[in-house]
Amino acid sequence: MPMPISPKPEHAVQLLPKESYYDPAWFEREHKELFSRAWTFACVVQDIPEPGDYRAVQINRYAIFVVRGRDGEIRAFHNTCRHRGTQIFEDGKSGNCRHGIVCPYHAWTYNLDDGSLRGLPKKELAFPDMKLADWPLHKAAVGVLGDLIFVNPQDVPEDDFEGWLGGMRDTHMWPHKLDMLSEKRPVRYDFGANWKGFCENAMDGYHLSYLHDKTLMGPDIEEQRWDAVGRHWVIFSQAEERPNANPYANIPGVDTSKPYPVVYQFFPNSGVLSSPIFFSAYTIVPVAPERCYLELRTWMMPREKQPKVEKKKPSSTSGHGYIMPDGKRYISIDTLSCHAMESLDFQIEDMWVCEQQQMALHSPMMQTGPLARLGETPLTWFQQHILDYVPLDGPATKMAAE
Ligand code: FES
Ligand SMILES: [Fe+2]
Repeated sequence: MPMPISPKPEHAVQLLPKESYYDPAWFEREHKELFSRAWTFACVVQDIPEPGDYRAVQINRYAIFVVRGRDGEIRAFHNTCRHRGTQIFEDGKSGNCRHGIVCPYHAWTYNLDDGSLRGLPKKELAFPDMKLADWPLHKAAVGVLGDLIFVNPQDVPEDDFEGWLGGMRDTHMWPHKLDMLSEKRPVRYDFGANWKGFCENAMDGYHLSYLHDKTLMGPDIEEQRWDAVGRHWVIFSQAEERPNANPYANIPGVDTSKPYPVVYQFFPNSGVLSSPIFFSAYTIVPVAPERCYLELRTWMMPREKQPKVEKKKPSSTSGHGYIMPDGKRYISIDTLSCHAMESLDFQIEDMWVCEQQQMALHSPMMQTGPLARLGETPLTWFQQHILDYVPLDGPATKMAAE
């Protein structure tokens, strides 16, 4: 049964104890009690257009692959072979397995449509008594919103996808269609910080005019509007007086004449940026109590549709970090050739401030003070949901305290 959701909070207040941002026992509880039941953005439908197309993704601690069946249905399986557990497909890789899902180690082979074990080498000699039907791949659940595919590590999730969405599909849907856009180079930002610090930073409207005075420059809190949808947070952009005041092509369908939803934070750790000129989807992957990474994919209008201007503003990530053979750009504070606050990349500014906050957590003097009534209320909203899944008086906390 899904848990009841408390209403949008009246007051901004820090609910989580500071230990929850660095304590390994708390981090373990989050994996067991929250991420094992959570929906997370995995990939997009355009990644797997044909029957047999798959994409392997890391969903928090779970290696999973998403695959399109012969019947066109999208399914997800845990990417761990039932023989000795090996990952069948490499993380991040796409391909086609129309003729069967074959483990590279000893060639156990599974059926595409239901994950059942079809066969294995030397069956009669090596496993004479084994019943193939006892060893199917573990299933995960799939939900599709727009072009985005979300997965849940449970085969039959306690929170079904529509219940988890909380009506988002009907009330706050973005108009962006990825079929008409082209994907930019994906970026991974490596943070030396707890994953919740990043989520809270993303929902904190109070810092926009100050930390980002060189990049985002606002808006101020009195001009911000956010909606609570299910457990998710959606913030609106202002109506734009001059919709074509940028050097990039506008994406059809985005009505900028009135306030429009521009950032979505899906509880617990996925998000969407739906700007008039780009669309991004991301996850923030918790690696260790004080380490996480932001995996960000972005789409824009294709190059041939972009206006021809002499010099475009540099895109936010240009030049920073390094490009790996997988084609992804990797950025962390220690790879920068300038100070983070000179990077002109608001994500890097956020990464830097999250790390600064993380480092201070270890000082005995550090305690969170009052939160701002407007811009920081979403933090209270987010923390309440964490506590719904990982209650302060939960069994593991008691165990850790004993
Ligand atoms: S581990 Fe997959 S076939 Fe042996
Ligand atoms: Fe920020």
